[in-house]
Amino acid sequence: MIQSRGDGHVHLADYRAPAWRVSLAELEFELDPAATVVAARLHLSPDADQPGQPLELDGEGLELLSISVDGQSLPAGRFVYDGHRLTVHGLSGDCELATRVRIHPENNTRLEGLYRSGSLLLTQCEAQGFRRITFMADRPDVMPRWRIVLRANREAFPVLLANGNPLASQDLGDGRHEATWENPHPTPAYLFAIAAGPLERVSRQLRTAEGRDVEINVWAEPSDVPRCQYALGAVERALRWDEKRFGRCYDLDVFNVVAAQDFTMGAMENKGLNIFNARYILADEATATDADFLAIESVVAHEYLHNWSGNRVTLRDWFQLSLKEGLTVFRDTEFSADLHSRALKRIEVVRLLRARQFAEDAGALAHPVRPARYKEISNFYTLTIYEKGAEIIRVLHTLVGEETFRAGMDRYFAENDGKAATLEDFIDAHAQASGRDLSGFARWYAQAGTPTVSIAADFDEASGDYTLTIDQATPPTPGQPDKQPLVIPLRYVLYDAQGAVISAAPEADAPVRDGLVELSQARHVLRWRGLRGKPLPAFNQGFAAPVKLQFDYGVDELARLARLERDAFNRWDLIQQLASEALLGDADAEAATGALSDALADLLADAGADPAFVAECLALPDFDTLAEQVAEVDVQGLVGRREELLDRLAEDQVERLQSRYESLAAAAREGLSGQAMSARALRNACLSWLTRLDPEARLARAQFDAGGTMTERIVALRCLLHFRAPGAESALAAFREAHATDPLVTDKWIGLVATRPHPEALDDVRGLMASTWWKPANPNRVRALVGSLARSNPLAFHRRDGGGYQLVASQVAALDPVNPQVAARLLGAFESWRRWASPQRDQAREALVSLQGRLQSPDGRDLLERLLD
Ligand code: PHE
Ligand code: ZN
Repeated sequence: MIQSRGDGHVHLADYRAPAWRVSLAELEFELDPAATVVAARLHLSPDADQPGQPLELDGEGLELLSISVDGQSLPAGRFVYDGHRLTVHGLSGDCELATRVRIHPENNTRLEGLYRSGSLLLTQCEAQGFRRITFMADRPDVMPRWRIVLRANREAFPVLLANGNPLASQDLGDGRHEATWENPHPTPAYLFAIAAGPLERVSRQLRTAEGRDVEINVWAEPSDVPRCQYALGAVERALRWDEKRFGRCYDLDVFNVVAAQDFTMGAMENKGLNIFNARYILADEATATDADFLAIESVVAHEYLHNWSGNRVTLRDWFQLSLKEGLTVFRDTEFSADLHSRALKRIEVVRLLRARQFAEDAGALAHPVRPARYKEISNFYTLTIYEKGAEIIRVLHTLVGEETFRAGMDRYFAENDGKAATLEDFIDAHAQASGRDLSGFARWYAQAGTPTVSIAADFDEASGDYTLTIDQATPPTPGQPDKQPLVIPLRYVLYDAQGAVISAAPEADAPVRDGLVELSQARHVLRWRGLRGKPLPAFNQGFAAPVKLQFDYGVDELARLARLERDAFNRWDLIQQLASEALLGDADAEAATGALSDALADLLADAGADPAFVAECLALPDFDTLAEQVAEVDVQGLVGRREELLDRLAEDQVERLQSRYESLAAAAREGLSGQAMSARALRNACLSWLTRLDPEARLARAQFDAGGTMTERIVALRCLLHFRAPGAESALAAFREAHATDPLVTDKWIGLVATRPHPEALDDVRGLMASTWWKPANPNRVRALVGSLARSNPLAFHRRDGGGYQLVASQVAALDPVNPQVAARLLGAFESWRRWASPQRDQAREALVSLQGRLQSPDGRDLLERLLD
């Protein structure tokens, strides 16, 4: 993209259609880890509206071996390559540009472009990695069809995969072989992929609803293949679900998925050849937790679902990123909700939103879901683009309803198939299908910050009139001091004194239907006339509005509502509110603690409640969520109060915890059924609470020794380590040895060490960094050790001597030249530093300032600048 304003930013407003189109890209790879030669033939045509422009192609650090046009070698004066961009002059009309370049996969530690992971050669191209492979207009609105030939030594690289359908393969006689692939769908370069190496697979044949026979393969290194079965099933479930819920069928003859141990992100939706971080593929009960299984299913679905939301309809430019990511997260969460429990999925998503996305939206890195400008697009793969983007789609879904939403999606896919679309195209399709003016709704994409909806109630005893005054406001964010009101669908319910729902509709200055009011102004008023007594209101059922809601409930009211509410999500949320009140409330903290304890007692005694739901209620708001609710964060104080509350609650509930722990033992043994997972979830929650009360940690030790599933072993080990029980060290050693050759399970114990809730965990992290377990080139390992310290261990990261900040900052500096994206993500842990109480605030600033001038990558520099701005 052209950075034309000289301010180092790419601007949405500067978008220009490409001057040259590429109709077909023909690539030939001579694969070799040390030096791979890529021969490319691009079939080019000038844009009729922009004739006479030079051809400009992206190419990052390529060694140019030859260049020709229409078979004629190009003289030196006709082209310039400056290491980033290739400019060719004097072209007119359709032509074929042929280049040969040499690249070095083995030296590629950034894991962008073509790189080596163990014995595999893999690619990662989103967002701008393709230009590290060969010359190309590396922008999503250039969408050639592709023909890819891979050649390699057969012994080292017996399997050769690329996008699309396999066309032919042959032996080349000299120990090498070749495979030809064809991708007939117009596809931007960011979706290009190849994978080569000693891969083996699990496989399944199926026929799509349109009658196409498809082979699904999940590939991994041979020893990992038995652990691919679950992911294979997940692909099939996703494929069937998209057929049923969205009417979208798969469109190639094969769907390949590859697991990679070295991968910067979670997974990648390359056309017909998804490449995954192995942690989102490999699973069996001995090595993966129930949470891992669910995460695998949802990430597999996410990538599969991109085939329509992202690939068939792609992006005009990177400002539209949420058009594929927000939409696909919406789709994958609906998939999980349809297959499992809708309420539990919603709880999981809202926890993530409140703990992380709200903090992002309130911190130094806040940005709109569609930013107006960026310096480095890699820094925009954020919770805001993904999770808030999905919430905005959910807002639309709530506004128009499932049926109309589906009609809007059908229209969007039909009108934009094979094209590079914008958020306007998406909103237009839904506006047409629903007959609604969605221009107000569109503001969600432009405005950063989490809106607050504050509601005040007034009841007039004499008349029985009940008035709710609803105000919305969005706080200022970097570069956006003033905010406009948003379109917010707010659900509400009124309960009468008997606990019955009051069904009368209010008088309102906004559209109201079935317990839902559409807010669009800074203030709205709802009024009920002549009620018999003061009602008790509940709001935002299912968290349909992604906002911070404020209503001044008394503790008794929260407790009463937690029993009355029909909506399971809200019952959970009311218990979270009681906990927040117990932790952060002034006058009523003690009352809230009592009410919370009573509510939990009821839940634990309720044999009819879903055990996994009860477990969610036992899991109090985490540190990040609480930190989001206070003006200034006193880290040690907050963690200390939370621990105290947990101790007190555990004491109150000890018998009920023991009895649930025992009574669920049999159900917990039933494999991967929803019931068994649910039983394990509550047993593990009980175990964690019970271990607080037992310095010997007998139960945890017994659960660890009993073997069982990884879900049971890892929680037992966490209890032993985090409560520093006797025998913790020997349990850790046993676990470590048992899984020493498995990097994913190794990441698990390393994560436990790094998150021990104690300032000294920082020293353990330092110790591990000096050991052979430290693998700075492996993103999963960096996240397990440094990422979990920075994001999930407040006591160690915010250690009073500033050592946590220094360690993370020094790792950012060390990793910046190795893998800038991984380094930049670590910097994100400082996003809220301005709200940390001193001395932390000053120490954090110091750590950040110490990085100035030490980061070379645009990724790191961009973030550091915004953090210190
Ligand atoms: N597009 C991938 C996904 O969400 C994420 C990703 C982004 C992977 C950038 C690699 C690089 O599905
Ligand atoms: Zn995605």
